[in-house]
Formats: sequence, C-alpha cells, structure tokens
Amino acid sequence: MAFSSNSCPEELTFPKGFGWGAATAAYQVEGGWDADGKGPNVWDTFTHQGGDRVFRNQTADVACGSYTLWEEDLKCIKQLGLTHYRFSLSWSRLLPDGTTGFINQKGIDYYNKMINDLLANGITPVVTLYHFDFPQPLEDQGGWKTGAIIEVFDAYARFCFGTFGDRVKLWITINEPNILALFAYETGMFPPGVPNPEIGAYQAVHNMIKAHAKAWHSYDSLFRKKQNGQVSVALFSPWVAPANPTSVADQEAAKRAMALALDSFAKPIFIDGDYPAELKSRVAAMSKKQGYASSRLPEFTDEEKKMIKGTADFFAVQYYTASLAKHRENSGGGPSLLKDIEVEVFPDPSWQASYPGSWIYVVPWGIRELLKNIKDTYNNPVIYITENGFPQGDPAPLDDTQRWEYFRQTIQELYKAIHLDKVNLQLYCVWSLLDNFEWTEGYSNKFGLYQVDFENPALPRVPYKSAMEYAKVIQNNGIKG
Ligand code: NOJ
Repeated sequence: MAFSSNSCPEELTFPKGFGWGAATAAYQVEGGWDADGKGPNVWDTFTHQGGDRVFRNQTADVACGSYTLWEEDLKCIKQLGLTHYRFSLSWSRLLPDGTTGFINQKGIDYYNKMINDLLANGITPVVTLYHFDFPQPLEDQGGWKTGAIIEVFDAYARFCFGTFGDRVKLWITINEPNILALFAYETGMFPPGVPNPEIGAYQAVHNMIKAHAKAWHSYDSLFRKKQNGQVSVALFSPWVAPANPTSVADQEAAKRAMALALDSFAKPIFIDGDYPAELKSRVAAMSKKQGYASSRLPEFTDEEKKMIKGTADFFAVQYYTASLAKHRENSGGGPSLLKDIEVEVFPDPSWQASYPGSWIYVVPWGIRELLKNIKDTYNNPVIYITENGFPQGDPAPLDDTQRWEYFRQTIQELYKAIHLDKVNLQLYCVWSLLDNFEWTEGYSNKFGLYQVDFENPALPRVPYKSAMEYAKVIQNNGIKG
C-alpha cells in the first residue's frame, strides 16, 4: 500500500467483516427506574439525593425512555445499518437486590426482546454486565471495597451467561473499572459519593480485577463449550504523550500515566496476573512516606495471579482524548493516585475542546498511538474499540459538521492502524447511539448519533448529520472519496 504514515488515501476500504457499532448503557438510556420490579441502584439513590453533584440535579428516571421505546432505538440501529449494538444489562432490573435470590422475569423479558430483535435483523449484540449502575443493596454492604462482592458478581455473571448466552456471544464484564474505581472510591464524584483517597480506589481496583477474572473463568469452564462466545473487560484509556518529547523525565512520566490508566488492569489480565512493577514500588514508597504501615495498593497472592492471568478473549478499549504528562514531585496534601506516581497531566494548549468546558480535547491521532501501544505491549491482541465519541454542548446543532470531521479523521486513523501498523482491530463502536444522561453532567452535553428531545414526553429521536455520514461509512465498509 503506497501511502505514508501521515497521509491517507481518499477512499478507504476496511477489511471484510470489520464491525461497525454504536453503544449505550442501561442507566443512561433506559429510564423506568422503578418500573416492573426493578430494584434501586446507586445512581438512582445518588441522583434522588440531589445536592448539586449532578448538573441541575438531573436524574435518569426517564432518560431516553428506552425501557418502553426500544422499538424506536431499533429503528435508529437499523437506519444506521450497524453490524454490532453494544448495550448493558441493568443488574437491578434483573436481580432487584443484586443477588440471584430473587429474579425479575420482566427484566429478563425486556433484554430477551432486545437480543432477539437484534439477531432477527442480523445485528450482533455486545453485552456489558455492569456499566456503573451498581445495585444499592450491595453498596450498602460495602460495595467494591469488600472482597465479598467477587462471589456476588460471579453469581450475577453466571446468571446472565446462562440466561442470554445461547444468543449473546460477545460479553464485557465491567465497563471502565479504572474510571469507576477512581470516581466512585477515590474522588467521590460518582456514587457512593464519599471520597476515600486513602484506600478506596486501590481496594476497588483489586476487587474488580478479581471479580472480572472469576466471571471469565466461570464462562470458560461452564459455558464456553456450548456457547462459544468471548468475554473481556472494557478499559478506558487516554493516549498520554510526554509534554516535552525529548525529555526523559517527561517520557517516563507519560509511561507512568499510561501504567496507571491502562496497564494497572491490562497487565494483570493480559500478561502475568500482577500490577506494573513501577506502580507497585511507587505506591509502596509513597504510602511509607505518608505513614501507612503497608502499601495502599494491595498485593495479589500467587494463586490469585494465576487466576487473573489470561482472562480476556479480546482487548476492549475506549478512547476519547489525549493528555500530555510531566514529572511532578509529590508535594503532600493527602494521598491521590496521580500524586502516587508523581505525574501531572494536562492538554496541549493547541488542542481544541469539543465544546467550551468539555474534558474531551479533539485528538483523533491519539487513537492510533494507543492502538499501536496495545499491539506492542499486549502481544498483538484482537482489539475492539467499544467506545469512542465526541460530545457537543447544549444546544447541539443537527448539522454537526465539526463532529463528523472528528469521526472521519478517527476512521482514517483506524485505517492507518490496521494497514500500516498491522493492528488487529476488528470492531469500532461510537459512543453513543443516542443523546443520553452523561452521569454528573446530566443532559448538558450530547454524545448521540441521534438527538433526543428530552423536553418532549414522546422523546423523539432525530439523526444528526453524523448519523447519516456514519451510515454511509458502514454501507461502504469505509470511506468513499
Ligand atoms: C465512557 C462511559 O462508559 C460512558 O458511560 C460515558 O457516557 C462515556 N465515557 C462518555 O463520557
């Protein structure tokens, strides 16, 4: 192929069978928060408590109404021509108290219909077991801070594999455990909303890795033979580059930031069952300095390492933006993950935010760097991009030309990653099918391919220009000049 690493042909054809998807998550779109026997989850509680932790104290009690408007979502999915649709199961809709002690048949019926409708239309479901909406009764028992959750999550996973796995072949156990651990258990920005920088995030990370691994083993030993599916975990990762590319200190700082964001999960799961060595030594040293008796990062036993190693059938990654990193000495002021690794991250001043105030800087080339890094570090795995997106502010124009430009450039970067870097990328999912409830940002920004009018009780879905353009890409399996 005669094109250089920075140029790209006008016409791009992706490998045959490449997957083009879009993604949503239960709490962000379903609504029906207490309908038909659903139990409460931590986001129901958090949003109902108010307290200005969510934009204008908004809730997802109704959201996009997908619990009753699934047929409308399906129309959008078909109009786009998606090959894959990624969605999550609401744990509390299926198991109202979080345990298999009581099963809500109405919840099973809802997801059965979705799965069956997708398959009837030739669309592959990609199903996430747990996307931030943790059952409240389990949180009340200590949530991800306690090891007891591992068994409970495994029981839930086995229930889902057994109930839907005859038809669902692509599973994600936990969505972005790295973000979840940080926001839920370190900063308190997500429910349970109690900042616990001392042990919270590390303990949660530790238990989430073990829970994922256990569920993977359950699939492997009890279901794989009959169902022949694949199971992984979806990891958020930015691309972090050195602030000064020629500074060794900055290069090392960027590596440490990637180790914290991505490798802390990916290395145990894909390589050897253990955290990156430098992360371990730095957290241990910093913990000592701060007067802790032992490292705040728990250790896996040898048996646990064996149990964790190799527990993913593909590499699922979610990319939104990039950062620059530089070394920054820990100047005290209490424990925190970034301080532990003595890194400061920030955007390049030349990067544009997707809208004023957005945390997403528009860096489409970062996705290619990230993919190359995953290929090189993790032994050339099959990679699925389970999320990538660009939020618009409110109001968001239907003619979202600037956003489509981001997607177009991203698709070019994916093409280069496949053809020039030989990355084994097989699926790309846009976040999101619909404008939806963006966690603490409520409905203030818009990630959807379809606009949802939240003021209108009918919650109509209207395609943005990006939806029309994405449909063409899918139809052509690439970009026509
Ligand atoms: C990743 C999360 O999985 C999803 O829930 C969220 O809406 C997007 N990032 C955008 O922030």
